[in-house]
Amino acid sequence: MKTKRNTVKKTSKPLWAGRLAEKPEADAFAFQSSINVDKRLVFDDINGSKAHAVMLGKQKIIPKDSASKIVKELDSIAVDIKSGALKIDDSQEDIHSFLEAVLTKRLGEDGKMVHAGRSRNDQVATAFRLYLKRAVPQLQTELSMTANVLLDIAQSHITSIMPGYTHLQRAQPVTLGFHLTAWCAALERDFSRFKDALARLDDCPLGSGALAGSTLPLDRKAVAQSLGFSRVSLNAMDSVASRDFVLELSSVCAITMVHLSRFCEDVVLWASEEFKFIELAEGWSTGSSIMPQKKNPDFAELIRGKSARTAGNLTALFTLLKGLPYAYNKDLQEDKENLFDSIDTLSVCLKMFAGMMKSARFNVKRMKAGCSGGFLEATDTAEYLVRKGLPFRAAHEVSALIVRDCIEAGQKHIADRTIGELKKRSKLFEEDIYKLITPAACVRARDLPGGTAPKEVRRQIKILRKKLQTG
Ligand code: ARG
Repeated sequence: MKTKRNTVKKTSKPLWAGRLAEKPEADAFAFQSSINVDKRLVFDDINGSKAHAVMLGKQKIIPKDSASKIVKELDSIAVDIKSGALKIDDSQEDIHSFLEAVLTKRLGEDGKMVHAGRSRNDQVATAFRLYLKRAVPQLQTELSMTANVLLDIAQSHITSIMPGYTHLQRAQPVTLGFHLTAWCAALERDFSRFKDALARLDDCPLGSGALAGSTLPLDRKAVAQSLGFSRVSLNAMDSVASRDFVLELSSVCAITMVHLSRFCEDVVLWASEEFKFIELAEGWSTGSSIMPQKKNPDFAELIRGKSARTAGNLTALFTLLKGLPYAYNKDLQEDKENLFDSIDTLSVCLKMFAGMMKSARFNVKRMKAGCSGGFLEATDTAEYLVRKGLPFRAAHEVSALIVRDCIEAGQKHIADRTIGELKKRSKLFEEDIYKLITPAACVRARDLPGGTAPKEVRRQIKILRKKLQTG
């Protein structure tokens, strides 16, 4: 009895079998099936069907009693799927067909009523959005957790001086806290991109039917409300044909992955013998099968590599949509696999990146040493002269000439020049210059909004933490 209740015969007919006299070719049918991908939507589709059935009953489109039976049976289908008593049958065309088949098998005539006023086109658009309304906040939580791990590290390295780079050449002294806060500023924007995308996809497509709405007296508002959507979608054809919400989310995933990829590139560089700024934990490193001495930053490299996937998924979705006539076309079935993959990839990469960074140690001495000898104080020297009234272009030249003087004399710092030598380049130099061009002084002096001064970075961290709050 139990098994009979919980299986749908493999040979069961497709939903649309009436029109076609011949049974579908097995291989061709399998080719067009999407159940292996869209089974992820199972509980969202069940919820969509429940809301639809309740509304059909209230509107007297189907008997109230049938609506109650459908809702009850859908609940027990959900329970059975969760417990494993009901297996999703991979030979079905898609999750929607599967659920309707199980429902009809279990309820008979009542089950056949659920699809009144509905098409799989509005059904899938609804289930997909419901799924995303759950999955995206989950991603946001993971994003926020990762950013907060970085902000914790930033906070504990608010005075750890390191070189800031442009063109991968040492440029000006910054702090590790400042550098990591820069990463988090990008992550916070990604966080808010997800929020924006969520707000835009919050329209309920159910009631749009195949493309033109329905002749039945559906109560779209009630369905939207019971499913937790903010609005009923405006135009039925748009509701079933549009997938810009998929493009948008796929794009946010790709952008966030590009950010992680860039951070990882920094980590890979920092972990090299040449930089030696970071020591990755052994548990977050790998060895070499041939070179016994190796400790490789594979996790950072792999996250960097996986950003190619999310960019590829976005490209695939653009390509999928660009020539598609209105309204629904089966091509659209390809949308889910791409976005699911981007969501899964981002989710695991966020966790991996946070774990790798949390367990890493920073070589503060080495970072500080990187600020010495590359004339990172040259801009500060020029700005010193600007404060004394020299036009910036002239000050820039004086500072550049002093750098040349140092190089010719084999000296590594502007402070290695005597005050007399400095005065030869500009009379404006006084003894106070020496105090103002140490790496720590250069960092401290940049206390404008956005600067690298510890006080300012503390403020930035506070703002980011607030903006990254979930819920
Ligand atoms: N599995 C389909 C998809 O994901 C569901 C919609 C099918 N609609 C149709 N008219 N064939 O797109």
